[in-house]
Amino acid sequence: MIEQLFVLLLVGFTYPIRAISKDDLLVVSVATNETDGYHRFIRSLNVYGYKYEIYGLGQSWKGGNIKYTSGGGQKINILRENLVRYKDDKTKLILFSDAYDVIFTQSPEVLLKKFETLQPARVVFGAEDFCWPDQNLQYDYPLVESNEKRFLNSGGFIGYASDIYEIISSKEKIDDDDDDQLFYTKIFLDETTRTKWSIVLDKRADIFMNLNGAADEIEIPVRDDEVYVHNSWTDSNPIVIHGNGPAKKALNYLSNYIARVWLPTSGCLQCKENVINLTKIEDQQQWPLVYIAVFIEYPTPFLREYFEKILNLTYPKNRLAIFIHNQVRKSEVEDDFFI
Ligand SMILES: *[C@@H]1O[C@H](CO)[C@@H](O)[C@H](O)[C@H]1NC(C)=O
Ligand SMILES: *[C@@H]1O[C@H](CO)[C@@H](O)[C@H](O)[C@H]1NC(C)=O
Ligand SMILES: *[C@@H]1O[C@H](CO)[C@@H](O)[C@H](O)[C@H]1NC(C)=O
Repeated sequence: MIEQLFVLLLVGFTYPIRAISKDDLLVVSVATNETDGYHRFIRSLNVYGYKYEIYGLGQSWKGGNIKYTSGGGQKINILRENLVRYKDDKTKLILFSDAYDVIFTQSPEVLLKKFETLQPARVVFGAEDFCWPDQNLQYDYPLVESNEKRFLNSGGFIGYASDIYEIISSKEKIDDDDDDQLFYTKIFLDETTRTKWSIVLDKRADIFMNLNGAADEIEIPVRDDEVYVHNSWTDSNPIVIHGNGPAKKALNYLSNYIARVWLPTSGCLQCKENVINLTKIEDQQQWPLVYIAVFIEYPTPFLREYFEKILNLTYPKNRLAIFIHNQVRKSEVEDDFFI
């Protein structure tokens, strides 16, 4: 009996309280509009089998235009309303993520393993190289190694539901156009609150990759017939890829490959999703209008053939539209290159 007890105690001390299971993880996001970026985000969650809840759909956005100014307090207010149901849950893990400019790239199991390696931290925020929106706060941040990211980005974080709820309800009132990143930054920089909830930054981008200013750290190698994101600077394979700030184009580029959009052996998988069976639409005038945009930014070979291929498409011509943006001056254009 005593022996058994001893073994039990030993086990209890050697391992964390219990392994976190995939079912404990819930991805939550706030989105008011089902944009293309929103669908891209949801697709990636479905590809890897994440459980998720999206809050705020159909509500009007009062959180400012984050592209140009600070803002986003409304995200916290919507989260607070919806996460109240999990406020006493000490085992459920909540991963908050922005939606429109985020793509998930690996499975919940891998993500949880990484979270476990960051323990004893209970709350982990993504990190980046810019101190935003208040640059004066940069000197208040703990120092990091030269290849680590020092500043908090609130586009992605993970923690136990009870802790997350306490954090987002720690201030009595947040205005919809207050800055959400500043709100979390202050909580992180205050040593009392940082310690209380055991908050750390994901400074090596093990889970959260914020692409702003860091897009050239990223490589997309192939392993086991899957394209994944590798950060060559921090030597990590981040999972939650965030095209924050002006990094939307970098994310768009990655989005052609990651989250099983494209695989080396089968090519473009996403091209086969949500296809329309045209033979079912007898009246060709009801076929979707296809809009082709061509950007010719420098002298480009085989344009004649390119346009000929478009001309040869067996598709009703009045359901095809083409937009051409041409930056190449006629004098630079050789006959063979451009019509
Ligand atoms: C949702 O986004 C689309 C463009 O992506 C825009 O045309 C539309 O007005 C937006 N709707 C709302 C309610 O904001
Ligand atoms: C498209 O629809 C036609 C007519 O209903 C059907 O015969 C054909 O199998 C469908 N093709 C695919 C790929 O579903
Ligand atoms: C377009 O179609 C014509 C006639 O079938 C063919 O001769 C030509 O090679 C095609 N062009 C291209 C670029 O495929």
